[in-house]
Amino acid sequence: MDRIRIRGGKPLAGEIRIGGAKNAALPLLAAGLLTNERLTLTNVPQLADIATMTDLLAVHGVAVEPRDEAGRVLSIGGAITNTTAPYDIVRKMRASILVLGPLLARIGEARVSLPGGCAIGTRPVDLHLKGLEQMGARITLDGGYINAEVTGRLRGGAIILPFASVGATENLLMAAALAQGTTTIDNAAREPEITDLAECLIAMGARITGAGSHRLTIEGVEALHAATHPIVPDRIEAGTYACAAAIAGGELLLRGARFDHLAALGRALDDAGVELSEVEGGVRVRRQNGLRGADVMTEPYPGFPTDMQAQFMAVMAVAEGAAMITETIFENRFMHVPELNRMGARINVHGASAIVRGVYALSGAPVMATDLRASVSLVVAGLAARGDTIVNRVYHLDRGYEALEAKLASCGADIERLTG
Ligand code: EPZ
Repeated sequence: MDRIRIRGGKPLAGEIRIGGAKNAALPLLAAGLLTNERLTLTNVPQLADIATMTDLLAVHGVAVEPRDEAGRVLSIGGAITNTTAPYDIVRKMRASILVLGPLLARIGEARVSLPGGCAIGTRPVDLHLKGLEQMGARITLDGGYINAEVTGRLRGGAIILPFASVGATENLLMAAALAQGTTTIDNAAREPEITDLAECLIAMGARITGAGSHRLTIEGVEALHAATHPIVPDRIEAGTYACAAAIAGGELLLRGARFDHLAALGRALDDAGVELSEVEGGVRVRRQNGLRGADVMTEPYPGFPTDMQAQFMAVMAVAEGAAMITETIFENRFMHVPELNRMGARINVHGASAIVRGVYALSGAPVMATDLRASVSLVVAGLAARGDTIVNRVYHLDRGYEALEAKLASCGADIERLTG
C-alpha cells in the first residue's frame, strides 16, 4: 500500500493550481441522471471519488466519457437501465446517496443502499428521505436498502430543513427540478457547491431562485436538456494548501482559488498571523513571522468549514499560545488528535472541543488516519516536523487531493510517495 514520506522544515514558495471541487463534482455527476441529453462538465478533478461516482452511473446504465486526454472534461449521458445503487459502491462513498433524488424524479423509483455510519460520525440520511416523502415519494427501508417510488411525478412541497444539510439540500434540489409544481427549501445549505449545482441545473433548463441563500425556490419543469458546466474551484483544496504555507512558512499563489469562498478560513489565519489576500488569478498566502493561537468553531457555510478543521488544528499545534477548536457539524471528527499527539502535539479533547497548546516543534513519526481531511492534516503537520513523517493509508488522500505530493514538492517541500 502506498505511503507518503515528508521531511519537515522547508518553507514553501511558488504556485499551486487549484482543481475543481470534489464536493461540487459529485452532485454534478449525479445531476447527469436528470436528463436523457448530454451533460458536459469541465474542470473535473482526477480523484478516486470521481471514479467511484462514474462506476455508480455506469451501474445505472449511464456512461461518463472523457472528452479530453487529461479527463478534465467529462460528458455524461445515456438511458437509465437500472435504478439500484448497490451496497458495494455506496459503502465506499456516502455521496452515492445523491443519485436517490435524480432517479426518483426521472424514473419514479430508486433502490439505494443505506449508507452506514462512517469514521467521522453516524451521518443519517433522514432529512433526504423526509423531504422526498413530502414531495410524494413512498419510502420503505428493507434489507439495508432505501426503496423509494412515486406514482407519476414528484410534487412540489414546502420543505423546512431542521439542519442546513449539504447533501439533503442537493438531493431535494435535483428532485424538485423535475417535480410538478413549486418547491421551497427553507434553511437550505448555502455552500458554494450548492450554488454551483443550482447554476448547472439552471443551464440545463431548471427554474431555481435563491441559490446561496437560506431559501431555494424551484419551479419544476417536465424535462431538462444538455448543458456544459465548469466546476467551481475546490475551496477545501485551496484552504489545505493555505494551511501548508501557514505551518511551513513562505508564500504560495493558489492559482484559480476563489478568495470569496475562503472568508472564514482567511479570518482564522489572520488571527493566527498568516496573510491571505486576493490577487490576480487566485489567492496568495504568506507567513513571515511566528504563528499565534486562534480559536475556531466549525459551522455551516459561510462559517468555518468542518472540512478544514483538522488542517487548521495541525497549524495550531505549533502556534504560540493556545487555541480552542470546536466541531459542531460531526460528532466524531477528532481522529487526527491522537496521531498529532504522537508527533509531539499537546491537544486535549473535551466533548466537541479540543484545546491545542502550541509546542515549539513537532517530531516526525509514522502515522495514519481514517478519513480524508484527518489524513491530510498529518501531511500538513509533517511539513513542520523534525525528521521523517510517514503517512500510511494514502488511499484516503487520493479520494480528495489530486497530485498532492507533486504539488507540494513543486513548491519546495521534501515529500514523496512510497509505492508498494
Ligand atoms: C458534505 O457531506 C460533504 N460531502 C462533506 O465533505 C462535508 O464535511 C459536509 O457536507 C459538511 O460540510 C460532500 O459534499 C460529498 P451534511 P454531507 O448533510 O452532505 C447530519 C469531505 O471531507 N445529517 O451537511 O453528508 C450529519 O450526520 C467531506 O470532503 C443528519 O442528521 O453533510 C452531519 O452531522 C466529508 N441527517 C450533519 O448533518 C441527514 O439527513 C452535516 O451533514 C443529513 C445530515
